[in-house]
Amino acid sequence: MSQLSRTGVSLEDDLLKEFDRLIAKRGYANRSEAFRDLIRDALLSETVASNKPMVGTLTLVYDHHVPNLARKLTEVQHAAGARVLAATHVHLDHHYCLEVIIMKGRGKEIQAVADGMLALRGVELGKLVLTNSGKSLKHGAHSH
Ligand code: NI
Repeated sequence: MSQLSRTGVSLEDDLLKEFDRLIAKRGYANRSEAFRDLIRDALLSETVASNKPMVGTLTLVYDHHVPNLARKLTEVQHAAGARVLAATHVHLDHHYCLEVIIMKGRGKEIQAVADGMLALRGVELGKLVLTNSGKSLKHGAHSH
């Protein structure tokens, strides 16, 4: 079990009010837990830009009527080779497709593959979630 340390944070009243509103909406029991999650997120973002091994899921929504888009998305994935572990395609409606691509590799590499797809014309929505199982990033200070 990690040792808990206390620290004080000075914030403008308005900012604190907004923060309290946000954490109430998200259902946090207290500010400390919300701060811990924000800090973990920030640390994880830094890891993402690194060369550390990560897994990533890229979610895309795109219009399959845009010429060559589906072919280009497939090309990017082929170029990424073994970094792409799996891809799932769902036909949402007449126009739109949802694709979830699961990747494994260095943070920077996964980000680059994702960027290659997100930048394509016709990709309407996209979000890459990168994570790893780093012990320091696990939820809570206690061990499970
Ligand atoms: Ni489709």
